[in-house]
Amino acid sequence: MKAIIYNGPHDVSVQNVPDARIEKATDVLVRITTTNICGSDLHMYEGRTSFETGRILGHENMGEVIEVGAAVDRVKVGDMVCLPFNIGCGFCENCERGLTGYCLTVNPGSAGGAYGFAEMGPYEGGQAELLRVPYGDFNCLVLPEDAKEKEDDYVMLSDILPTGWHATELSGLLPGESIAIYGAGPVGLMAAHAAMIKGASQVFVVDSHPDRLALAAKLGATPINTSETQAVDQILNLTHGKGTDRGCECVGYQCCDKHGHEANHETMNNLVATTKPTGGIGVVGVFVPQDPNAASDLAKEGKMAFDFGSFWFKGQQIRTGQANVKAYNRRLAELIHHDRAKPSHIISHSLKLSEGPEAYKQFDARADGWTKVVLKPSA
Ligand SMILES: NC(=O)c1ccc[n+]([C@@H]2O[C@H](COP(=O)([O-])OP(=O)(O)OC[C@H]3O[C@@H](n4cnc5c(N)ncnc54)[C@H](O)[C@@H]3O)[C@@H](O)[C@H]2O)c1
Ligand SMILES: [Zn+2]
Ligand SMILES: [Zn+2]
Repeated sequence: MKAIIYNGPHDVSVQNVPDARIEKATDVLVRITTTNICGSDLHMYEGRTSFETGRILGHENMGEVIEVGAAVDRVKVGDMVCLPFNIGCGFCENCERGLTGYCLTVNPGSAGGAYGFAEMGPYEGGQAELLRVPYGDFNCLVLPEDAKEKEDDYVMLSDILPTGWHATELSGLLPGESIAIYGAGPVGLMAAHAAMIKGASQVFVVDSHPDRLALAAKLGATPINTSETQAVDQILNLTHGKGTDRGCECVGYQCCDKHGHEANHETMNNLVATTKPTGGIGVVGVFVPQDPNAASDLAKEGKMAFDFGSFWFKGQQIRTGQANVKAYNRRLAELIHHDRAKPSHIISHSLKLSEGPEAYKQFDARADGWTKVVLKPSA
């Protein structure tokens, strides 16, 4: 099969590799019809993780079931399925509680597994023609009859729509509350979409890229362009000096200061500044325990100069982590099915697998107009 292989920093290529296949009786084999490039792939693409060369990337996957293992009961050949980026076993202490992003058995010695991901187990990615899905009955979301018609919406259930939703959940957002979202990448845009659907009164989205901010405005949010204005001042002005009830971090450890230099504390400290006393902050942007290529000594050790004093004084809360996709994907699929959610709005490029390497380059450069790339391996 053809697959996108990581060769080293800033170097991926499409190569012929052995076909993915059923390895355990509980596996399902999927012919991938859509697979996305994610901001999380870029941490690996840039060589900022321990991702091994020779591995297949891709954790935002959907397709058609073409074979099921002998112990698979529910999922059938021909089903159109969307796969949560987290792989769960379904029977461990965390999966039982719905915390499938922290499965205790699929990646022994750690908590959480995923396809084509650094430190998340040996599973290959889905930027390929075929994908092996472990514990198929548990992990496959079988889609309704409009699966093909709304494929570009449903594929977003693999990660960014549930992750954006999770950011607002972690922040504690209630209908009628205000929220500031840092980052207008796909995840931040989906957090804005979620906040609008949940009935937030004011939704601010902060970034420096006009094309991404224009999408935020289309979703009904108020864009805050950091290359034109001081985000903190602007949000305080627009909330009568009070700040927002809630805030979301949708950027991660490679966030930049106003000069475009990496400063891993930038978004967290801005969130403390723009969130009201007693407000909640949800952090889905990825932060890592070690980052040897970081700009500062603190960041190299996964630490940051965090404004803990202000945070404590304001009595705020922070909640963090991977989105437990399965906790949301079934209900979010209903929102798509009934036209209440339209995550495909943010797609800028729909390409063949062979165009993947060039797409990585452009998306990594946050080149103008490259907001979200979907790849079609069977096209
Ligand atoms: N927790 C999870 O389950 C989960 C799932 C998917 C993605 N992620 C993470 O979410 C983050 C965002 O993903 P994405 O696909 O949207 O990535 P992206 O890289 O496309 O978008 C990040 C955006 O943040 C902006 N940005 C940089 N510095 C900023 C600052 N100081 N203030 C405001 N905006 C700033 C960039 O201009 C960019 O538009 C990544 O860290 C990704 O790994 C987490
Ligand atoms: Zn992703
Ligand atoms: Zn588990």
